[in-house]
Amino acid sequence: MRLTTKRLILRDINLKDAGDIAKEANNLKVSRYLLLLPHPYLLKDAKWFINKCKKDTKQKPRKSYEFGIELKKEKKVIGMVGLCSIDKYQGTATLGLWLGQDYWRKGIATEALKKIISFAFNKLRLRRLEAGVFTENNPSYSMIEKLGFKLEGTKIKSRKAKATGKIHDEKIYALLK
Ligand SMILES: CC(C)(COP(=O)(O)OP(=O)(O)OC[C@H]1O[C@@H](n2cnc3c(N)ncnc32)[C@H](O)[C@@H]1OP(=O)(O)O)[C@@H](O)C(=O)NCCC(=O)NCCS
Repeated sequence: MRLTTKRLILRDINLKDAGDIAKEANNLKVSRYLLLLPHPYLLKDAKWFINKCKKDTKQKPRKSYEFGIELKKEKKVIGMVGLCSIDKYQGTATLGLWLGQDYWRKGIATEALKKIISFAFNKLRLRRLEAGVFTENNPSYSMIEKLGFKLEGTKIKSRKAKATGKIHDEKIYALLK
């Protein structure tokens, strides 16, 4: 699977990407507000994740799509964006995203998310996308609010970040087609 935008290629990842993924993900500023990224994030973690993504592409129907975010200019993966918990009958899925710190604040996440949202609504024919954001993660909810997501509520002490083991409140946002 491969989607393109002006500056980005969103594509399946493979073992050649493991070094780049581990380099960018091995940063607590990236992983501290995420559910599933461990810290430290080692090459073996990237390889495990890549193999998991490969297996997931074989699911029928697919429950998730994980895309490596490749910057065309640098020809390497600088982050990940994905849809998980896809339920075709309900028409729903959850969005997730992270970018290496050197690439923040250049509009890259917004560019990637616009493409994924269009893929989810127009190609997968979903009707509702959800995003869970830890309450401390101001950049993230400011970003998704700009994309039109609406805050529906906050789940108290509902999530534990894998990287830190800390428990967080989670804001639930959603976007309808
Ligand atoms: C959240 C994250 C994906 C944003 O990526 P990004 O490419 O820097 O975001 P964009 O440049 O597209 O920013 C879009 C808007 O988000 C907000 N934003 C992004 N970073 C911000 C920051 N550090 N502080 C305040 N607002 C911020 C701004 O409103 C920004 O618009 P503006 O630049 O016009 O002011 C990135 O910081 C990241 O990967 N963080 C770590 C992982 C994470 O938290 N993922 C989200 C989990 S829900």
